[in-house]
Amino acid sequence: MLLKVKAKSQISENEITDEHVYLERRSLIKKMGFLGAGSLLASTTSAQARGLDFFSSKEEQAFVTSPIKFKASSSDSQVLTPENKVISHNNFYEFGTKKSDPVNNAQSFKVNPWQLKVSGEVNKPFTLDYDDLFSRYAIEERIYRLRCVEAWSMVIPWLGFSLSNIIKQADPTSKAKYVAFETLHDPEQMPGQRSRRVGGGIDYPYVEGLRLDEAMNPLTLMSVGLYGKTLPPQNGAPIRLVVPWKYGFKSIKSVVGIKLVEKMPPTTWNILAPREYGFYANVNPDVDHPRWSQASERRITSGGLFARNRIETLPFNGYGEEVSSLYKNMNLRKYY
Ligand code: MTE
Repeated sequence: MLLKVKAKSQISENEITDEHVYLERRSLIKKMGFLGAGSLLASTTSAQARGLDFFSSKEEQAFVTSPIKFKASSSDSQVLTPENKVISHNNFYEFGTKKSDPVNNAQSFKVNPWQLKVSGEVNKPFTLDYDDLFSRYAIEERIYRLRCVEAWSMVIPWLGFSLSNIIKQADPTSKAKYVAFETLHDPEQMPGQRSRRVGGGIDYPYVEGLRLDEAMNPLTLMSVGLYGKTLPPQNGAPIRLVVPWKYGFKSIKSVVGIKLVEKMPPTTWNILAPREYGFYANVNPDVDHPRWSQASERRITSGGLFARNRIETLPFNGYGEEVSSLYKNMNLRKYY
């Protein structure tokens, strides 16, 4: 089922979906609203929490609805990527470099207890525990496109809250200019961190960064779930970044550190291959990767591997209206 998108960022929620189950759930969501699922999820000790539904219990239904603000947007037709593909075709090199490695190798990854430390150039550093991830900030649904630098893409219904909530709470000092992120470093649990071969030659922990104004943009999401449930481990449980106008490698998974810093922080793919992966990594069909074109992408849909689903790549992944002003007067060929 292909459905037309009416207006940028402002489409009604029944217009972009094709998963039967999801549609049913959404009618419940509409009536009952969203919530943080802290109490429900607190009992979970491992990331095999895929079955935990944000919207299933009576207590949850008592919570207040958060507005659903941002949708996948553009003039093209949009269909959600089926959940089974979102959670089985992954990049998470800590669990191996093949697309099927994360789902196969991450299922016993422990996400509770978890600590996410917010520190650096801030007046009020703090730490979020596992339960806080689901209860401290109002959780919204955001349907975003995810465009990987490898030229495939998906449309994913995330659950989460704007990163700006965390940053505001920490109260940055005047020195804070960038935000540095870090993934958990736990070689016992992550085979890719034990072996350079398994982990693709990356020096772990995986690190990423944003300029402070990028981090404060309302589109920038800290995600704790997808398709109405907690994140599965292969997608970055219990909490990950999602920056929809940048190539997917910026969207760092299983985050344990958010640090406000003065200088541009090092980032994993830029360290590994600086000519191929820049700090900014804004989706840009006019600037090719040195080894392949970025003008188009393969949208992963319910079709088979060879389904005809090549579509044009849009500048800023179609979110230019919301974010292009961040890069006024910047040469985006130089700052790729
Ligand atoms: N975060 C960590 N810690 N390790 C990774 O290997 N891969 C990135 C990003 N975040 C990666 C990561 C890349 S290349 C992409 S495209 C997205 O995660 C993929 O997210 P998904 O598997 O949920 O689709």
